[in-house]
Amino acid sequence: MADEQTQDQGGNGNVATARESLSVTDNRTGKTYELEIENETIRAMDLRQIKVNGDDFGLMAYDPAFTNTAACSSEITYIDGDAGVLEYRGYTIEDLCENATYLETAYLLINGELPTQKQLEDWVFEITHHTYVHENIKKFVEGFRYDAHPMGMLLATTGALSTFYPPAKNINDEGERHMAAVRLIAKMPTLAAFAYRHNLGLPYVYPDNDLSYPGNFLSMMYKMTEVKYDPDPRLERALDVLWILHADHEQNCSTSAVRGVGSSEVDPYSAVAAGVAALYGPLHGGANEAVLRMLDRIGTTENIPDFLEGVKNREEKLMGFGHRVYKNFDPRARIIKKNVEEVFEVTGVNPKLAIAVELEKNALDDDYFHERKLYPNVDFYSGLIYEALGLPTDMFTVMFAIPRTSGWVAQWLEMVQDPETKIARPRQVYTGAREREFVPMGQRG
Ligand code: ACO
Repeated sequence: MADEQTQDQGGNGNVATARESLSVTDNRTGKTYELEIENETIRAMDLRQIKVNGDDFGLMAYDPAFTNTAACSSEITYIDGDAGVLEYRGYTIEDLCENATYLETAYLLINGELPTQKQLEDWVFEITHHTYVHENIKKFVEGFRYDAHPMGMLLATTGALSTFYPPAKNINDEGERHMAAVRLIAKMPTLAAFAYRHNLGLPYVYPDNDLSYPGNFLSMMYKMTEVKYDPDPRLERALDVLWILHADHEQNCSTSAVRGVGSSEVDPYSAVAAGVAALYGPLHGGANEAVLRMLDRIGTTENIPDFLEGVKNREEKLMGFGHRVYKNFDPRARIIKKNVEEVFEVTGVNPKLAIAVELEKNALDDDYFHERKLYPNVDFYSGLIYEALGLPTDMFTVMFAIPRTSGWVAQWLEMVQDPETKIARPRQVYTGAREREFVPMGQRG
């Protein structure tokens, strides 16, 4: 494999790239191929021309877990993992958390631009007036066992929405796409709160159109006998910030699931249900729960050095540390840490915070974590906030699914309108047996 390079005119050793291309020599045949480079990427299909002979299928790229394969181009979310940068549509996460609401951010993700005052008012009105779910959804939730996992209920009810809105399958209809986007963002908190109340055996609380998006969620979760629930504005704002932070994260497991399933042209409710299913997994949405279990086990700050020794001896992992993409501070972790303090002003301090702060400090000072570029991720502190809000650990991933819905919807909308979209169909490297003779039952084993 050789780069196409030329010496610069002065011959001072500086090398300039002549063409945006990659030359590949197949040592099996001695042939050289030139592959175009665009956006620092070669097209995997360009490898297919590389063959030993005419009957050969052609070369493929092997990339389990897609760690180095771009499956789409996107204008939604930018991450620079080495620099610790996260931007939605070009706006930094810090800027959005400081100045925007979650619904404003959802508008930005979906439409590509920040809304004008009028556009924002219309958007908030539309979302607010689609928060109710069909009464049969309520009956559906009632059918679950008292201890059903709320993510399982959310997965099922999100998928079930498709049966209430059959026209949503007209994915080429702009109006239908818009309605599905509004309904999904509007109804997700309602479905989440119904699941929570079901676990507690409490009556479901209907949405209150006078409240903000996070205020209404708090009402649906915690309202008891009062005529009107009055959410604490500090908690509303804290939830808004948490939800901005979790709204999108480009092509992660659940978003890839939404795009992959959506590429079959199924309706958006079913595609988003696939995202909920992916998020349900402990390696994706479940890490914040693991952080709390870890803090519980550590128990007191005195036990931190022993615990870290155990991590360094590979007996266990430091949960909430490390990230596939961020090899620097996860920018969301810094914002959440500030957020924790604001929530604790309302709820009182969770004693686990002191352990978490000390643990973070000790790990950041330790060469083991430094050398491996392991820093706190978004989940290191988010569980503490959820616990302070009185949420059981089963609800933590649900709290992630609510805001991620706007990201899933934005990515789905981009995918269905991308002329390059085809049904997702990865290849495999077949390593099994071939052309075997069928063995009759009597001769097996
Ligand atoms: N604690 C201790 N060591 C760790 C940790 C950790 N949390 N994370 C990575 N390492 C070590 C690995 O053992 C490895 O060491 P080695 O090179 O000596 O073998 C090195 O750091 C590199 O780790 P990888 O596993 O190659 O990193 P990868 O990018 O595959 O993993 C992951 C990222 C899965 C997030 C990992 O860091 C981890 O398991 N962290 C804890 C779980 C967690 O917090 N997940 C939430 C992620 S955020 C989210 O999903 C929203």
